[in-house]
Parts: sequence; C-alpha cells; structure tokens
Amino acid sequence: MLVESGTFLGGTVKFFLPHAERIVTVEIDDQLHRWAAMRFADEPKVEVLHGDALTHIPRAVATAESAPLIWLDGHYSGHGTGQGAELEPAPSLLGLIAEVGPPAGTTLLVDDVRLFGAHRDFPTLHMLLSAAFDAFPAAQMNVELDSLVIRLPA
Ligand SMILES: C[S@@+](CC[C@H](N)C(=O)[O-])C[C@H]1O[C@@H](n2cnc3c(N)ncnc32)[C@H](O)[C@@H]1O
Repeated sequence: MLVESGTFLGGTVKFFLPHAERIVTVEIDDQLHRWAAMRFADEPKVEVLHGDALTHIPRAVATAESAPLIWLDGHYSGHGTGQGAELEPAPSLLGLIAEVGPPAGTTLLVDDVRLFGAHRDFPTLHMLLSAAFDAFPAAQMNVELDSLVIRLPA
C-alpha cells in the first residue's frame, strides 16, 4: 500500500500503479484534486482524497493491513498549489501517524528535506528531526537524495 500526501498531478501515483495493491493519495487543492480524481477514475486500487493531509493521512494509515510506504510530499509548492492548516505539515504528521500505530516494517519518507530551514516558511531541520525521533524512537533513519527515510523495525 502507498499512502501519499500531496497528489499534485498524480506523477507518483502513476509510477506506483504497477507496484502497489492499493494507493491512497490526498490533495488539498480543489482543482488538482478534481484532475487527479478524473485521471485515476478507472483505477479501482486508487483513492484520491480531498482535504488536508493532517486529517486524512493518519486515517488512511490506520486502515493499512500490511506495512505501507508513506510518502509525505504535501506542502505548499507555489502558484496553483494548495495549503492546509500548516504550510509544511510533515513534522506534525509524523506525530499523528505514530498515534495510530503503523504496522511493523512501515517506511515513511519526507520529501524535499533541502527546504527545511532553508525556505523561510518551512519548519527547521531540527523541528523535522525532533518530530521524527519523538514519533519513532526505534526507527532507522537516514537521508537519501532529498528525502528523510524512516524505517520502522519489522
Ligand atoms: C510537491 S507537490 C506533490 C508532488 C506529487 N507528490 C508528485 O509526485 O508529483 C505538493 C502538493 O501538495 C499539495 N498540498 C499542500 N498542502 C497540503 C496538505 N496540507 N494536504 C494535502 N495536500 C497538500 C499541494 O497542493 C501540491 O499539489
């Protein structure tokens, strides 16, 4: 199962179609959500949810029957994209996801790590890492390319 925050045009969903048995993706922008919902309307394995990742992602993770891949990429990304209660909700999301108890072996990725502490409206890198260690103290963590990778013990 893939759980994604920030559908945008659906590029990640499209990539994972052959690889995941179920895909849940969340987009806050009305127009982007409409486009993605239309794009994947004929794909029964894909659910395109509309709203804030802070609400929908923990709920989706709570329905996972086996260890999901959780791709946190839902943040304001310029003109034509949306914004929820927080411009970059990843640190808060990590805590909310931990509360629902993701299955052993879950992998979480926070994309665009380069922006934490560099973009003036983003949380600092310290805030992201503190949230990650608080939420998942037993996880293995490392940065690969531009993503923080959090692997929960199997
Ligand atoms: C970097 S893009 C995502 C790219 C996408 N994952 C892909 O593979 O092409 C970020 C997207 O997150 C959406 N977004 C912003 N804040 C959000 C939130 N709180 N909940 C859900 N989606 C959000 C934006 O509207 C934008 O479409």
